[in-house]
Amino acid sequence: MQYRLRWGWGSLFDCGPHAYTRLFSGIAGVDAVPVEVEVNTGSGNPAVIVVGLPDAAVRESKDRVATAISNSAFRWPRERTTINLAPADIKKEGPSFDLPIALGMIAAAERAELPRLERCFAVGELALTGEIRPIKGALPIAVEARARGMKAVVLPAQNAPEAAIVEGIDVYGVSTLREAYEFLSRRREIAPIRGNAASLLAAESPDEIDFSEVKGQHQVKRAIEVAVAGGHNLLLIGPPGSGKSMLAKRIPTVLPPMSLDEAIETTRIHSVCGLLNSTHAFVSKRPFRSPHHTISDVGLLGGSTNITPGEVSVAHNGVLFLDELPEFKRSTLEVMRQPLEDGTVTISRAAGTMTFPAGFMLVAAMNPCPCGYFGDPQRECRCSPAQIERYRNRISGPLLDRIDIHVEAPAVVFKELSGGQAGEPSSAIRERVLGARALQRSRFEGASTPPVNARMAHKRIKECCALDAASTEMLRHAMEDLHLSARAYDRILKVSRTIADLAGSEAITSDHIGEAIQYRTLDRRLWV
Ligand SMILES: Nc1ncnc2c1ncn2[C@@H]1O[C@H](COP(=O)(O)OP(=O)(O)OP(=O)(O)O)[C@@H](O)[C@H]1O
Ligand SMILES: [Mg+2]
Ligand SMILES: [Zn+2]
Repeated sequence: MQYRLRWGWGSLFDCGPHAYTRLFSGIAGVDAVPVEVEVNTGSGNPAVIVVGLPDAAVRESKDRVATAISNSAFRWPRERTTINLAPADIKKEGPSFDLPIALGMIAAAERAELPRLERCFAVGELALTGEIRPIKGALPIAVEARARGMKAVVLPAQNAPEAAIVEGIDVYGVSTLREAYEFLSRRREIAPIRGNAASLLAAESPDEIDFSEVKGQHQVKRAIEVAVAGGHNLLLIGPPGSGKSMLAKRIPTVLPPMSLDEAIETTRIHSVCGLLNSTHAFVSKRPFRSPHHTISDVGLLGGSTNITPGEVSVAHNGVLFLDELPEFKRSTLEVMRQPLEDGTVTISRAAGTMTFPAGFMLVAAMNPCPCGYFGDPQRECRCSPAQIERYRNRISGPLLDRIDIHVEAPAVVFKELSGGQAGEPSSAIRERVLGARALQRSRFEGASTPPVNARMAHKRIKECCALDAASTEMLRHAMEDLHLSARAYDRILKVSRTIADLAGSEAITSDHIGEAIQYRTLDRRLWV
């Protein structure tokens, strides 16, 4: 008997030896690409053939699916069966095609209809037992499904909460192949998972860490406030144990809270990277990422054969903390320049070119010298000037140029650490940051770059950072005495604009310029 099922786009109809299911793969970076899975049974020697540019993981899917089907007490087609993944010109990767392939095989073998597959996408990896394993990219898959007019998505139960933040589509979580099959063939009911990004964002619990826990370090905290207020990158320099890591971790607590769009954008990236699960399905707090200095370029920027986002993208809308900056490979730091400049990262591989969002605040930390104690009043530095120079030269000039604020975090003295007085809470700092950000938003209205002083277009510097005679003179002196570069000059102007914004001052005064000059520690050649 000739038998054909068509599932999906239209209604089910019977006109030949076909069975279709559809699903998505996350292969196009943070966007999902729909792939149609056709299962065709016909006459010929019993065999199963997979066609349509599948990779090894997809070809192996055949054996996984066969075992899962038999362990779920379903039949396997006895005829010659062809599984086609369309469109044929996109390389299909990974195990997430298991579920639609299995559904197609069962339907073909059982001569069954799956009425609920109409306007529905299915995706999931199968275990040999017939259980459904989580996949990467559930959120972008749900976004794409809705964009294509689907009514529902059926996906692994663990991924359902992250997909459910997409409104206007029903999300069904399934744990086993049998459950999926019975639901799609209307033999079982499953309640759709409901999520709401706005309410998840509103219900966000307060941060567990706070700047009030950091004793002393008033200057560093001030520098952090300025950096966050103006969107400037920051470098902390100090001896071991001076609290650099402690301070950096608290920076997300003074950044403005995430907007709904930002949260969804970041969640999408985390979804593609497989960082979400049923208890952490939505990224509502700004990410803080702290990759170790041994990280590969691919780990940092993204890439590898199937092009997944790297740390610079996982940190999107949050903080990327590079601790022990000089220990990072020089080439690694060089490749950071594009994301720092553009807020995106472009990766070229044989599989194609892909651009990911990578808009993060860079916070770096380093010791002042290899032993860590250069300039420390308590302990003696054992490094030679040449060693210090070499250590410092490991950071490339162009990278350093993109870090507007350098600040020294001296060792905290015992008196400060043991004193009972708590520091200012993050909430108070954040209030001032929000005030300064509001001024910048109105200043840069309609600009294509983010509305922060750090991203001010070169041609606007003159107009936005006008100086009076005294400030001009002060800056000229500083430039000459400290041998500052032209780039440093622009940076000082932008930072002084932020300092004036924090003070609610329209004019930039010599106090503001004076403070901004202090934040060019590394240009001042304190080292040798
Ligand atoms: N200002 C401070 N207030 C309160 N505790 C502090 C302060 N500075 C340091 N500490 C304590 O010292 C510990 C070590 O600090 P932290 O790891 O942040 O130092 P670090 O500068 O990153 O050192 P390293 O260079 O070794 O990485 C912190 O976990 C904290 O308990
Ligand atoms: Mg540290
Ligand atoms: Zn030293």
